Parts: sequence; C-alpha cells; structure tokens
Amino acid sequence: MKKLIAGNWKMNGLASSLAEIVALKGLTGSTACDIVVCPPFTLIDRAVDQVEETNISIGAQDCHAKVSGAYTGDVSAEMLADAGARYVIVGHSERRLDHGEDDEIVAAKTAAVHQAGLIAIVCVGETQSERNEGRAIEVVGEQLRGSIPAGATASNTAIAYEPVWAIGTGLVPTLEQIAEVHLSIRRLLVDALGADGRTVRILYGGSVKASNAGEIFSVANVDGALVGGASLKATDFAGIISAAG
Ligand code: 13P
Repeated sequence: MKKLIAGNWKMNGLASSLAEIVALKGLTGSTACDIVVCPPFTLIDRAVDQVEETNISIGAQDCHAKVSGAYTGDVSAEMLADAGARYVIVGHSERRLDHGEDDEIVAAKTAAVHQAGLIAIVCVGETQSERNEGRAIEVVGEQLRGSIPAGATASNTAIAYEPVWAIGTGLVPTLEQIAEVHLSIRRLLVDALGADGRTVRILYGGSVKASNAGEIFSVANVDGALVGGASLKATDFAGIISAAG
C-alpha cells in the first residue's frame, strides 16, 4: 500500500512558513509516498499555489459539518475544497478534548468531508488513564465505530491512531502496542467496510520523528504517519518521508 505521510502544523505558521513547503518540494521529489501538509486555514490557498504539479497535497485541520450558514468563525469542507485543499483532519484529540467534539460530531464532519469530495483523516486514540486501565483497544474501537459515517471507503478515508499521551510528549508506544492497536483497527474496518477496509490507510501519530519513523513504518498495518512538531521544518519532515521509502 502506498504510504500516506501527513503533517499537522496545528496553530503554527505565518506567510514566512511557506518557505518550508517550498523546501519540502526540493527534498521529496522522488518519493513514492503521498505527502500532505495541513497548515492553518489562513495559509491554505497560498500553500496550494506552492504545490502545483508536485506529489504534495494540502489539507486542513478541521471543518464544520454543515456546508454553509450562521456558524461564526467556522469553515466548511466545501470552502476548503474551493481553496484547493484535498484532505481534512477530523476528530483530532485536541478538537475532541478542547472543543468537546464527540464521535457523533466527528462522524458528521467526516461525512461533510466526503460530500465535498475530499479525503478525511479521522483521528482516534486513548488517554494515558484509559491505557493504564487496559482499555486502549476498547476506547479506540468505540471511537472508530462512532466516527466513521456510511459512505466511507478506502479512497475517501484514512484513520490516524494517535494515543493522546504520545502527542507532543516524546513518548511513543512500543512497537507491539502499535501493532496491537493497528490490527484491531484493521479488523474493525474490514467488519464495517468489507473488502475496502483492507486498504484504508491507518496512520500512526504521536512523537514521530526521523529517528523512530523507520521502525514504526515496519510494523504491520502502519500505512503512514500523522506528524505534528516534526512536520514544521522541511528537513525534519523529509527525514520521516524518506524513512517511508
Ligand atoms: P507530535 O508529532 O508533535 O507528537 O503531534 C502529533 C499530532 O498530534 C499530529 O496530529
């Protein structure tokens, strides 16, 4: 399966940061991976201008579930498509925890992404206390079942397993823990989507960097990465992309 390497810039990036996308083009021209950079909304259309005719796509970090209306401050998937984005991250733990987004909201947003003809990267992951209680697989399964709408396919959906405790902490699950959760996600996807579930890409996210990416990519059912901090600098991000082959 072609790997998908996505960078989530979170609330980082000014016009000057577009130079990182320009640099990334020079560093990743020959890769076989699909590469996505998700800058803040304010940079999307300018970022799109930079990646024409390259293997890099631009994504967004969130969207509203509705197409338009009286939702001050929100951005719809249709608007993101109009700006030239191709991917949208939905259900990131920073949205689930800081903005009270539950599985129902995430499923509605994912459906909106599909409706707009874009690809959803749907995030799931357990907290430290849920893992300590031995509930990681159960929590991730429940989130996944609740967050994937009817109409999800391998072409319009990727899943990102991001343990909350591994995000921005430098902590990474063992390869066995990653393998166990990714296998459980694969089984659930096959149950829910049939044969298509076999080729939905399952990304790992949480403290991925160039030095640990190779071993993470060697784990069964790891089909790419969702990268935060190490996606901000082109050289760091390119190191992760080259580890994916
Ligand atoms: P870090 O790579 O900074 O741990 O962030 C992961 C993440 O949340 C990507 O969405």
